[in-house]
Amino acid sequence: MKIKIGFIGAGTVATTFAIKLAEGGYPVVAVADPDSELTRRMAHRVQGCRVFTANQAVVDAADLVIIATWDQAMAEVINQLSWREGKSVVHTSGFFGTDILEPARQAGAYVGGFHPAQLFANLDQALTALPGSTFCLMGEPPLLDTLKDMVTALQSRYIVLRPDQKPLYHVALAFACDFTMVCVKICTELFQKFGVSSPEAIKAVTPILRGAVDGITTLGFPDCFSGPVTRGDLSVIGKHVSTLEENAPELTALFKTLEKHIVPMALAKGTIDEATAQKELDLLR
Ligand SMILES: NC(=O)c1ccc[n+]([C@@H]2O[C@H](COP(=O)([O-])OP(=O)(O)OC[C@H]3O[C@@H](n4cnc5c(N)ncnc54)[C@H](OP(=O)(O)O)[C@@H]3O)[C@@H](O)[C@H]2O)c1
Repeated sequence: MKIKIGFIGAGTVATTFAIKLAEGGYPVVAVADPDSELTRRMAHRVQGCRVFTANQAVVDAADLVIIATWDQAMAEVINQLSWREGKSVVHTSGFFGTDILEPARQAGAYVGGFHPAQLFANLDQALTALPGSTFCLMGEPPLLDTLKDMVTALQSRYIVLRPDQKPLYHVALAFACDFTMVCVKICTELFQKFGVSSPEAIKAVTPILRGAVDGITTLGFPDCFSGPVTRGDLSVIGKHVSTLEENAPELTALFKTLEKHIVPMALAKGTIDEATAQKELDLLR
């Protein structure tokens, strides 16, 4: 018999989990959220899910409560609830450890974390993206075993971290997700300077972006790298810097910082020698 799951917060993450966990055979029995449209959406998509106005009703109805409000609301939500032995509670924050769940732990509940390393921009996108994701789990048995089973039901993978490791994990993800997106946004803005609209620029860049992801997954680091730094093409590197200084000087420092991180990759790939690496670093200083 699978544990009964309840959600506090009915946003994109909670609703994606509720639908997918229900598909995986988990009874999703309760949800509460101030936004009644969102709770109705979850109840409509998940058979047997009851809508409550009070968060405490979710704790009372479920064996495992998943708190998926905004990060800022979590501590207050947890402090306002009564917990008891045998209950389990996890949050979906990428940043928090288990400290904020301390009131529940002190009351005898099992506490942990259940964070998907995935982007949840809207429900349709998230339902498609979730399978194959990696979850960051926190907790101890028996809750940890339950969370591992849930990850399997979500056709995903997991890593287990200590609470004190979570902030670094969360910062690391910003490099893979947020900064990739912001770099593509910068690219489209530069395209507009020579008259290519943002939608056209996105279309133009998407294949090279896919190529980059494929390169990382099939070739790995450092073999996936190509480009002037990897080739040791000092004159092009210098012209890139001066072109940016003329057209978008505010980007020059960022450009140099990122290019410098490619130099050790080129050395590891064996396409440049130490002397060329030093000349590249001098150019990018
Ligand atoms: N979005 C992502 O890509 C992503 C990825 C991984 C993890 N996460 C984490 O997942 C959590 C939820 O993210 P999300 O994107 O699903 O956020 P979201 O769509 O904004 O949903 C959060 C929901 O929590 C509700 N809420 C706020 N205060 C509440 C309270 N006191 N009691 C009950 N519900 C309350 C909000 O309702 P109102 O709007 O009515 O206030 C909102 O519907 C966050 O911890 C986030 O860090 C997000």
